[in-house]
Amino acid sequence: MAHMTTSAPVFVDAAAYVQAVEDASKAAAAYYSGGTSALDDDSYDRLVWAIAAFEAEHPEQVLPDSPTGKVAGGAVQGDVPHTAAMLSLDNVFTPEEFTTWTASVARRIDREVTRWNVQPKLDGLAIAARYTDGHLTRLVTRGDGTAGEDVSHAIGTIEGLPGRLTEPVTLEVRGEVLMTNDQFEHANTVRTAHGGAPFANPRNAAAGTLRAKDRAYTVPMTFFAYGLLPLPDTAADAAEHLTTLPHGDLLRYAADLGVRTPADTQVPGVTLDGVEDVLARVEEIAALRAELPFGIDGIVVKADLAADQQAAGSGSRAPRWAIAFKLPAVEKITKLVGVEWNVGRTGIIAPRAVLEPVDIDGSTVTYATLHNPSDITRRDLRLGDQVMVYKAGDIIPRIEAPVAHLRTGDEQPIAFPEVCPQCGSAIDASEQRWRCERGRDCHLVASLSYAAGRDQLDIEGLGASRVVQLVEAGLVADIADLFTLTRDQLLGLERMGETSTDNLLAAIEAAKTQPLSRVLCALGVRGTGRSMSRRIARHFATMDHIRSADANAMQQVEGIGTEKAPVIVAELAELAPVIEKLIASGVNMSEPGATPPTTPPTTPPAPDDEADTDEQTGPLDGMTVVVTGAMTGPLEQLTRNEMNELIERAGGKSSSSVSKRTSLVVAGEGAGSKRTKAETLGIRLATPDEFADLVSALLT
Ligand code: IVH
Repeated sequence: MAHMTTSAPVFVDAAAYVQAVEDASKAAAAYYSGGTSALDDDSYDRLVWAIAAFEAEHPEQVLPDSPTGKVAGGAVQGDVPHTAAMLSLDNVFTPEEFTTWTASVARRIDREVTRWNVQPKLDGLAIAARYTDGHLTRLVTRGDGTAGEDVSHAIGTIEGLPGRLTEPVTLEVRGEVLMTNDQFEHANTVRTAHGGAPFANPRNAAAGTLRAKDRAYTVPMTFFAYGLLPLPDTAADAAEHLTTLPHGDLLRYAADLGVRTPADTQVPGVTLDGVEDVLARVEEIAALRAELPFGIDGIVVKADLAADQQAAGSGSRAPRWAIAFKLPAVEKITKLVGVEWNVGRTGIIAPRAVLEPVDIDGSTVTYATLHNPSDITRRDLRLGDQVMVYKAGDIIPRIEAPVAHLRTGDEQPIAFPEVCPQCGSAIDASEQRWRCERGRDCHLVASLSYAAGRDQLDIEGLGASRVVQLVEAGLVADIADLFTLTRDQLLGLERMGETSTDNLLAAIEAAKTQPLSRVLCALGVRGTGRSMSRRIARHFATMDHIRSADANAMQQVEGIGTEKAPVIVAELAELAPVIEKLIASGVNMSEPGATPPTTPPTTPPAPDDEADTDEQTGPLDGMTVVVTGAMTGPLEQLTRNEMNELIERAGGKSSSSVSKRTSLVVAGEGAGSKRTKAETLGIRLATPDEFADLVSALLT
């Protein structure tokens, strides 16, 4: 796990300290109100740490509005008093710090804590929800911890926080309000449609939405409970029950009352005995982070037993029986210094952000995806903007939004290309993703190199530099031309001797026998990659059937919807001359083992018509299989694509992510979060060797 490695600033004098207190206060105010802070979380934490260090050395100079020792950095106040203080949490960043903390708790209570509750630290806002006789009557933010703001107007917009509990009890539910990634996307779509600026991240969106009154629209948020406590009107026996239950049982009770808890997520709270087990669980949750549908910024570890909690007590800012094990920040602010426009193999013109290099979660980020031109317009991005960049796990970094109030006025508009940056032709801007009018012919070198690649036609000896030679010599204008290349033509090229020529010709000849799925993929049909090409080929079995499919028939293929189907049909029509040439050269146009649909391809199948290409028999029939980590033994030489092909030949479905629907995870060396997730969900695991045994009949 990565830890916070960057050191905190050191103040040279009192003036620097005063400035730091001012900066931190402003940042905290923005953080808790839904505005965008000029400091990302990591920088804020370091600044407060440095402020605390200065104050420890110069206690006489401590400013009254210093954020240290205060809930929410002292940034927010409210007028609804809390019946019990709403505290914050102290942080640790390393296993060593955690172990030291557990020892300090043991010293304080004079015994070891033997039951810990480990749960995700949800990245949203703390809220207190008051229920009277089972009815939700009031919502209050954390505020400064002693009093918060009334946000009852948000009742009814927060999933997981029911208007009525399953029992007529009087109590307060505490937990976190957040936006899931989907809710965040939805909120920004709705907000920008109403002329608002998009929120920078889900946390910000939740903060802004929670506090907003009288908006023309409402967008949903989600609540997860992490505490239950009595209110002054709670019956004595019920209050006794709430204050003596172990934490795990308390949250189970919350769930029974109808309130959402992390229990039904991939990271449910668990009760564990020893520090080692706790640390292992921390690692597990950290590994799952990138795949969760909501943001977490750490793991909270709490003494589970009420007696331990009471014995440890609380400080003014945080309880002494709980700690936040913080995870490295996945968001940083950096500068957008440029935008590059790259043309892909199908002619798509994609913008890419060039950033001032920034370290996020252990790697240096210099580029981020910008999706398409309308995305730039929607976010009102400008060159020179400070932008919030997000990167988690192996996800491609993305820009969330500009930090508008950090603008200096020197920012420049981003120029969109007027002609194709690759070939100078006109641009087809009729769809969200712009495309060179020459389509796949624009970047012929890219499309041919892709076609010859190992997972498509697998033509050894046809690397990018050889493709450049062929294109420059005017010998190939599309992939079909590869199959009519003559020995003399190849010998006429520079650095092409007899042996390389014969080898290349043999490789081209061998490529003619590739399955239809690979030929289709090599054609570079827009909207289809490797797995989609395999699905199409297995569904239709022959190129003839594919080509006679209309949009309706195309939609029968899993994953092809109303938008994609007509694009694929049109692309195939456009590719007709190339396909004809391939057929004439003797390139295989059928998918081994697949049978064509029994219904005529233009008629959608009747609802009870199960006859499909999927009805094959194989060792993985009906199974969804995920491959992760390095393959060894008989599978060592297989690319991920080849593994997926193998799974599908064996009757299974390949997938890249683990979910409840996964039947088997093949986990090789170095498998990380996917294996962890399979273990958490109780999904069957196989080593590469075990898997090779399972499909041995198909391994040649
Ligand atoms: S327990 C007295 N549990 O993190 C215990 N807090 O940085 C206080 N948070 O103010 C809270 N997930 O807003 C707890 N599972 C969790 C949490 C959690 C997120 C938030 C909460 C708290 C903040 C402290």
